[in-house]
Amino acid sequence: MERNKPIGVFDSGIGGLTVVKRLASVLPNESIIYFGDTARVPYGSKSNATVVEYSIENTNFLLHKNVKAVVVACNTASSIAIPELRKRFDVPIIGMIEPGSQMAVNQTRNGKIGVIGTRATITNQAYSKSIKILNEKIRVYEKACPLFVPLAEEGWINHKATYEVAEEYLKELREEEIDTLVLGCTHYPILAAVIQEVIGCKVQLIDSGVASSEIVKKEISRIGLESDSNVQGNISYYVSDIPTKFKEVAGLFLGNPVEEVHKVEIEELVSLHSAK
Ligand code: DGL
Repeated sequence: MERNKPIGVFDSGIGGLTVVKRLASVLPNESIIYFGDTARVPYGSKSNATVVEYSIENTNFLLHKNVKAVVVACNTASSIAIPELRKRFDVPIIGMIEPGSQMAVNQTRNGKIGVIGTRATITNQAYSKSIKILNEKIRVYEKACPLFVPLAEEGWINHKATYEVAEEYLKELREEEIDTLVLGCTHYPILAAVIQEVIGCKVQLIDSGVASSEIVKKEISRIGLESDSNVQGNISYYVSDIPTKFKEVAGLFLGNPVEEVHKVEIEELVSLHSAK
């Protein structure tokens, strides 16, 4: 039955698991198929054309797994590829930018919001444009933090190097006296403790995964696609490069060990795309 199909989620690597964790808690009876493009991470330093191409391939792969909706659990891909994905595929496609922006706008009291993300997300001004649409008076301060992605992929959630990198990246935002900081990359919630300590405890962190999970829930119920199962859903994991490190780090922040991770060949992704 259509409504008992899984929800597809993709990211460039491990970061989208922060979204899976939230989705599994708001929609416990939904099954999820996760694809992490670990062979081609990072997306944040690639061209827009490449990110669109990869996003189409990832979506095609998930649709071959028979998903009923696709969550683009990657801010970089969300900021670049969503219009093209919505044009090509007729399942609901949910991204990170609008939900994260809305949550930040609701949260700020002094009208000063900081946004950190990959170079691509920041260069495309994805959040500042989206926040300005919601409230043009809000001041948005954006900063690219590309080194956070490999630190998260390594699972260095409490490492000296992570503190040093965070100090360097966040010092300008600290001076702007923001009261809200959007973690505009799904890898960053893994490093939230370090980011919070460095930016200061008065700044509210916004996890775009939390915001988007609520939107996924609303959207699938609006179109009558919520699962009617009363048992806990399964989560299956697919990656495009050897899954050893993925397994180790995934367990770390999903809170429970990941037993099985399947490897997908890049050639397979590309051939599904060209077969379309
Ligand atoms: N996790 C991704 C994001 O939310 C991308 C990280 C990367 O591949 O550069 O932007």
